Amino acid sequence: MQALTHEQNLTSADLKDNIQDIQDNVVAPILMRYGRHIFLKFTDGEKARAWLRNMFERVNARQEEHGTRFTVNIGFTYEGLKAVGLSQQSLYSFPRAFRVGMRERAGEVGDTGAHAPEHWEGGLGGPDIHAMAWLRTDTDEGRDLATDIIRDEMRATGGVEIRFIQDTKALAHENGIGSEGEHFGFADPISQPPIEGAAAPFYPGDGVQEADGIWRALKPGEFVLGYEDEVGREGTPSPEPFELRLNGTYMVFRKLYQDVAAFRRYLATAAKSLYGSDDQHHRDLVAAKIMGRWPSGCPVDLSPERDDPAIAADPERRNNFTYAGDDQGLRCPLGSHLRRSNPRATPLKRATAVRRHRLIRRGIEYGPHLPDGMLEDDGVDRGLVNLFIQADIERQFEFVQKEWMKGGEFIGLDPNEQDPINGVGGEGSQMSVPGARRPFLFDLPTFITVKGGEYLFVPGLNALKGIIEQKF
Ligand code: HEM
Repeated sequence: MQALTHEQNLTSADLKDNIQDIQDNVVAPILMRYGRHIFLKFTDGEKARAWLRNMFERVNARQEEHGTRFTVNIGFTYEGLKAVGLSQQSLYSFPRAFRVGMRERAGEVGDTGAHAPEHWEGGLGGPDIHAMAWLRTDTDEGRDLATDIIRDEMRATGGVEIRFIQDTKALAHENGIGSEGEHFGFADPISQPPIEGAAAPFYPGDGVQEADGIWRALKPGEFVLGYEDEVGREGTPSPEPFELRLNGTYMVFRKLYQDVAAFRRYLATAAKSLYGSDDQHHRDLVAAKIMGRWPSGCPVDLSPERDDPAIAADPERRNNFTYAGDDQGLRCPLGSHLRRSNPRATPLKRATAVRRHRLIRRGIEYGPHLPDGMLEDDGVDRGLVNLFIQADIERQFEFVQKEWMKGGEFIGLDPNEQDPINGVGGEGSQMSVPGARRPFLFDLPTFITVKGGEYLFVPGLNALKGIIEQKF
């Protein structure tokens, strides 16, 4: 491993020597279908450190190393770092958004009304959530086996309690292009920012486009702490000391309930209103205009009138677009989920370096699909567990959520126009769909509800050891 005592941030050339020190699911996804997110409270700092010392052996250890067919990783809330005895100096060096936590930032990111923290599950966002351990396994039984091992270790040391558990199961998408199918029926994820130096394959459209049209990966410091970022060598300068932040990252956990029946019903209403017809083609067209991709994953920017499964199946093409030549949103609406969450080359009203607001998404579905064709809710809890990875919660997750999702001004829309998927609907909500016969949707339903969330610091392995040994 590279120079842990360096005070100056590392470069992308150093990343490959550090990959083993970065927790799994950060630089590359863990491709195991079953997930469990265990939220913990540390009731006794010393005993919790003893438990963590045992857990340390399991973090990043793959099945061949410990034979249990599961991976486990761990992130801490600010309260958790306090509870395991991090020094005041290091605690204060964390950025404010992380220190106060997601609950306190609810007003900032639009978690109000039905999304407000008082409705959240399991005490999420509260002072008793100190850490999240996340498991990935191949089977349902593997998940229970892994949990039993963790529980046994808790019983052995004491000092740790389970406060909330959220399971996930990645759902396959029918087009089988290798990405997963989220509950509204779209292939996801497709577009992920690649990291320079990570030696992972990436495709046109994933990173940043240079003047010569070539796409490049982003500097590692946008996602991993202790590295140069898109502005320069300085990178994100906290937390302190350098060894604590090196190879760490921030993970934003969000449990988002999806009202699939409402979404399906609305496609017919909206198709009639926009195009005067609610036949299958127009319902699909509305879905595509709302999301910015057809359910297959084919981008609307490349195929605005109809789905093109050949594009969806081609990794060289399915993310290779910039919205160039579509400043009005005639092909892909300016307010669609995809265009808001990464506007690419769209001219924005306020000068914004889009590449500074990218998120690695490791989200997975929870709950079963609503059966095909069903238009009434069956009362089953289902949705998406978002796991966003970034170096700076305020500049990345919070900015995207607040500036790009919860308003329209940044891209030349009405200031009150919100993301049709991730915004708050209801009376007065709207979405512009240029080119349609009646180019506005009004009073959209709210399709998702925030059920809880946490801001987590996910240390590198050396830093985790240092936290356990009270080095910082
Ligand atoms: C339940 C809620 C959500 C659903 C169903 C959803 C669904 C999707 C789908 C289907 C895609 C297209 C696949 C792809 O390009 O990878 C996508 C892309 C994306 N979403 Fe979401 N999403 C949700 C919430 C969010 C939230 C809360 C954020 C951030 C605050 C977000 C940020 C993004 C980003 C950054 C992209 C990639 C855009 C690009 O690079 O072109 N999403 N989402």
